[in-house]
Amino acid sequence: MKTPIRVAVTGAAGQIGYSLLFRIASGAMFGPDQPVILQLIEAPIEKALKALEGVAMELDDCAFPLLKGIIQTADASIGFKDANWCLLVGAKPRGPGMERADLLKDNGKIFIGQGQIIDAVAAADARIAVVGNPANTNCMIAASQAKRLPAERFTAMVRLDQNRAQSQLAKKAGVDLTAVQDIFIYGNHSPTMFPAFAHATIGGQPATKVINDDTWLQGPFCETVGKRGAAIIAARGASSAASAANALVDHVRSLVTPGAIHSVAVKSQGLYGFDANVWAGMPVRTTTAGSYEVITGYAMDAFAQSKIAATNKELVEERAFVADMIA
Ligand code: NAD
Ligand code: LMR
Repeated sequence: MKTPIRVAVTGAAGQIGYSLLFRIASGAMFGPDQPVILQLIEAPIEKALKALEGVAMELDDCAFPLLKGIIQTADASIGFKDANWCLLVGAKPRGPGMERADLLKDNGKIFIGQGQIIDAVAAADARIAVVGNPANTNCMIAASQAKRLPAERFTAMVRLDQNRAQSQLAKKAGVDLTAVQDIFIYGNHSPTMFPAFAHATIGGQPATKVINDDTWLQGPFCETVGKRGAAIIAARGASSAASAANALVDHVRSLVTPGAIHSVAVKSQGLYGFDANVWAGMPVRTTTAGSYEVITGYAMDAFAQSKIAATNKELVEERAFVADMIA
């Protein structure tokens, strides 16, 4: 039996948490032979902590063979202690009349604190994955506080966008989902994101040839993927949860699987025309478990360059909104 790994999850009693925790405990994230200890962190709010108790009871009631312990806490320094993976799901949602800048500032405070605590108490090999919105900039903020853990350990999730794009391409082409490969998301997890369809393949052929409809690819396809989160909120009355949890399982599973090729928001380091200090979605190849290299060399045509410029501009603006906090 392998040594259990410690997985810290913030926002554990929230909607995404309710789908996510059971998938982690069942082995879907780290594999069927990897035991886990769940370190569940909630906001110090009575209702949230009570709900967390209920979630922990249900986890017990599943009798998952791989689940070797559950910690429930509102204290991040307990929750992140020795964590090998820190999954940052908890964040304040946008309220009525709130501007994006207000959300950035409010969540920025949370991610500054969490970045500092993770850097102080998490395991030496800790990896961090951010889901709470605005995910890219929250990730950048948390990473800005780390002195011990390197910036490339901090990633944000654009896998839900990749999965959405793959599904839309398969539907349009009338093929099985698995026929669609190499569709990667560039930039921000927001409507400005760019699903780079020109590099995708369908049944081994260029997706652009199979679909043969540039107007659809440049217009409705990009728009549907970019605004899918809002469409789900409009339909469900709440933001995507099961599909977001599933995407986080995919995000981490791919990051621990050498050879996996997938979209992750990482520190850009100036690649593909992004500002060097923003966290932008791009294609990566997992090298060894938990480590990756950005896949470089994809050529970008004028349309792709204009989409990347727009999503980069938004990321740079978000960074500017919080510049005083991370200075
Ligand atoms: P939710 O409101 O149901 O749950 C969030 C939970 O976080 C709540 O239980 C809350 O008490 C907790 N929380 C708040 N501040 C906290 C803190 N400082 N420490 C620990 N816990 C804290 O929301 P949800 O539906 O689970 O979504 C969570 C986040 O994920 C939101 O920001 C949402 O916008 C985002 N999201 C991102 C993606 C993506 O693809 N990146 C997709 C869907 C949702
Ligand atoms: C999603 O893409 O489904 C979410 O990020 C939407 C949101 O704003 O919570």
